[in-house]
Amino acid sequence: MKTVKFGVIGSGLMAREFASAAARWCHLNAGISRPEIVALASPNPAHHAWFGQNVPSLKHTFTDYRRLLELDEVEAVYAAVPHVLHEQVYTDALRAGKHLMGEKPFGMDKAQNGAIMAELAKRPELFVRCASEFPYFPAMQILIKWITEKRFGRILEIRSGFCHASDLDVTKPINWKRQAAANGEYGCMGDLGIHTQHVPFRMGFRPEKVFAKLSKYVTERPDGKGGMVPCDTWDNAVLICDAKDQGGNPFPLYMETKRMAPGCTDNWYFEIYGLECSAKFTTQKPNVFSYTASWGKEQAWADINIGYKPMVPAITGPIFEFGFTDAILQMWAAFMAEFEGKEVFFPCFTPQETVLSHRVYTAALESHKLGSVAAV
Ligand SMILES: NC(=O)c1ccc[n+]([C@@H]2O[C@H](COP(=O)([O-])OP(=O)(O)OC[C@H]3O[C@@H](n4cnc5c(N)ncnc54)[C@H](O)[C@@H]3O)[C@@H](O)[C@H]2O)c1
Repeated sequence: MKTVKFGVIGSGLMAREFASAAARWCHLNAGISRPEIVALASPNPAHHAWFGQNVPSLKHTFTDYRRLLELDEVEAVYAAVPHVLHEQVYTDALRAGKHLMGEKPFGMDKAQNGAIMAELAKRPELFVRCASEFPYFPAMQILIKWITEKRFGRILEIRSGFCHASDLDVTKPINWKRQAAANGEYGCMGDLGIHTQHVPFRMGFRPEKVFAKLSKYVTERPDGKGGMVPCDTWDNAVLICDAKDQGGNPFPLYMETKRMAPGCTDNWYFEIYGLECSAKFTTQKPNVFSYTASWGKEQAWADINIGYKPMVPAITGPIFEFGFTDAILQMWAAFMAEFEGKEVFFPCFTPQETVLSHRVYTAALESHKLGSVAAV
């Protein structure tokens, strides 16, 4: 099997998810080139040890990512670093001629996203995508297929959300994701938002106007050393957008991203309501595809247990169920397959889509500030 040599920049939560996905490439049954991690860059030496123990292909570790980018054998980079570093790290990676899987929000704000896109425009030969894994749940893939088949008729409403509850614990210590200086002005939107946009944007449902309600509930958090420090990011965001369906008909598109949503643990969901049919998916019921069946004037919600039937074939039998780490593996399979020129039913989030994402969130900040609707 062919391999593509990767350098990983950052060694936290998502860098390890990638290491784990690359380690179980044998899980896939599709003959797609395997990512081989040969280098790691992270300022945290304790994390170097974890990669050293768990990634046998690792040959180089650096504290300065620029050293990693100097390696000729590194063909592609996965960068999973705090938002404040996206512009510098991504543009340096592109300048070094590396293919790139970047993380959301792909630049801390619109200006930084613009700088990344300007660098990318100079290197059109590079393959670049942004991470977003939730659409790869098999039940969600069916919902996406139904949209492409126009089964819903005229769209009445779409709701797309990503909600967590962990910040309800006010004793939870601060981290960079709760500080605007490192996370950016978007707050929870920059952190969670692209996950809510991948499906609507790809299906052609582009927000044209937005009304945003942003909320900040917890203004300080423990610093882990006995003191308290400011927690100045938005906790919750509710966006109501004007969008248009495939026939050009307007409909409301709701996108919510919340860190303080009681009862939610990594709850990604998508709901579509149409004149002819409706459907929904939530990671709270990861195996279930729900849709309406109609008898005359009545509608009944029906649930199908989908099982392990992913976009990219895998060794797991269809009678089993699918989870978060499977979605990560599918996302990477989509990246690698598209990279080597294979046709992919639902490809990864594109750099061009991140531009629209930043326009939506910049408009959302303006909308919230002025208390009015803002053009995207
Ligand atoms: N796709 C997803 O589901 C998902 C989930 C969580 C986070 N993310 C995104 O992934 C990115 C990283 O988030 P995370 O949760 O892994 O954060 P994290 O805090 O767990 O890890 C960040 C890593 O960046 C490293 N780092 C800091 N400065 C660096 C530098 N100069 N050079 C190299 N490495 C440096 C840190 O040592 C740390 O290992 C963010 O963009 C975030 O939005 C994506």
